[in-house]
Amino acid sequence: MKKKLILLGPPGAGKGTVGSRLSVIWGLPLISSGDLLREHLKRGTEAGSNAGKYMEKGELVPDEIVIKMIEEKLTGPLCREGFIIDGFPRTIVQAEMLDTIVDDAGETKVIYLKAGDDFLVERLSLRRVCGGCGKIYHLVNLPPLKEGICDFCGRALIQRDDDKEEIIRRRLDVYRRMTAPLIEYYRSKNILHMVSGEGKLEDTVSEIKKIAKW
Ligand code: AP5
Repeated sequence: MKKKLILLGPPGAGKGTVGSRLSVIWGLPLISSGDLLREHLKRGTEAGSNAGKYMEKGELVPDEIVIKMIEEKLTGPLCREGFIIDGFPRTIVQAEMLDTIVDDAGETKVIYLKAGDDFLVERLSLRRVCGGCGKIYHLVNLPPLKEGICDFCGRALIQRDDDKEEIIRRRLDVYRRMTAPLIEYYRSKNILHMVSGEGKLEDTVSEIKKIAKW
């Protein structure tokens, strides 16, 4: 059965962290729109440099840029057995496109990771990511074995440019206006499940496993 999981939630709710754990457990690819955009930015593609102007301000990248990147991934051989998506869709237009891109085979579940603004601002200010492989850390909850160094590839950990308080608050505001309406969109399709994003990582992961029953 094709397994399709959409991780929805505000910035810092844990979509990337939880998604990468579930990806290992289920053997499904994790497709992150934020990572895809950062990859394009790093490679200096036209789409990447267009997207960068929006990302640095904490605003959404235009739908057409993101949809093209995601469509290429989801319709490719990597996602034949299913996928976990983090950070997409983020607008009603993206959600409607996703409905047309993805076939009806198998099962789709949407997990809404819920967390409060002040909690998220504090959590994101303590996030560090590997500049090489992108692995996500938290200075208190999920620290690397050696300070400042990625456990997996040995490269230096960095703070994302958009993890400054002013930009985080802008991203939260954009989330409320543009992305939160998707909660109702998926609730009306009866595929939405709410899970706290503020708990321990192990608890969040096991709750999602119970919901999905995969
Ligand atoms: P993106 O990279 O998607 O950022 P985001 O949605 O703001 O989400 P984050 O990556 O900040 O947080 P997360 O929920 O993945 O949390 P994480 O697991 O890292 O997007 C960046 C930008 O790209 C956007 O602003 C926009 O410009 C653009 N963009 C992307 N997609 C787009 C789209 N579809 N349309 C238009 N524009 C788009 O966790 C956060 C921290 O908490 C980490 O330190 C982690 O270690 C820790 N942590 C997480 N869970 C736990 C836990 N349970 N217990 C303890 N610590 C935890």
